[in-house]
Amino acid sequence: MSIDLPSLPFAAAALEPHISAETLQIHWGKHHRGYVDKLNGLLRDTGFANKPLDVIVESYANQIVTNKDAVTIFNNAAQAWNHAFFWQSLRPPGGRAPEGALAALIASTFGGMRGFAEAFKSAATGHFGSGWAWLVVDRGALRIMTTVNADTPIAHGLTPLLVIDVWEHAYYLDRHERRADYVAAVVDNLLHWEFAEASLRRAATGGAGHRSAGSERAATPQRA
Ligand code: FE2
Repeated sequence: MSIDLPSLPFAAAALEPHISAETLQIHWGKHHRGYVDKLNGLLRDTGFANKPLDVIVESYANQIVTNKDAVTIFNNAAQAWNHAFFWQSLRPPGGRAPEGALAALIASTFGGMRGFAEAFKSAATGHFGSGWAWLVVDRGALRIMTTVNADTPIAHGLTPLLVIDVWEHAYYLDRHERRADYVAAVVDNLLHWEFAEASLRRAATGGAGHRSAGSERAATPQRA
């Protein structure tokens, strides 16, 4: 058994015009696949080859300071996990806004969807260098945060609800250096609020809200 590349939960052209099919095919088919393939090679003979991806991420996060090999394994495992979570954080344009408990938390934390969107765009656009912008649950409260390079909230005991990849490979083909345009397009059109609500419900009932993303097994990859 090895870590699988999860299929995209939508056709590669489904996010257009905000993210092109070409960008998705390269991002998923080259970058995400590259992290998964590298990880499987690194895990050989480690005793972790048969573990769920989130367990690998959390386990290697604890060794990152003292073990150079663990840094490489953590980086590839976390990137594999983050990308799987990113695909689930997106859905084709035209979906609904958050409802129920999540809508109430967004209202009490950010003053509503407009405040949330401004804060999320600001964090994602302002993050220096490569990384990720997240909406997380931190001890029952909503929080926006960014992580550097491969770092991920699940390595810090936090429950992610949504993420935006702000590595240049996520937007450079479509928008060159204009990260703010890409971030605005994602926040305004592509966030998968039903997925975020499901993660919040699992976190609230004591389950690991993030388990579904990285543990998901691949089916046949979808193509546009
Ligand atoms: Fe990426």
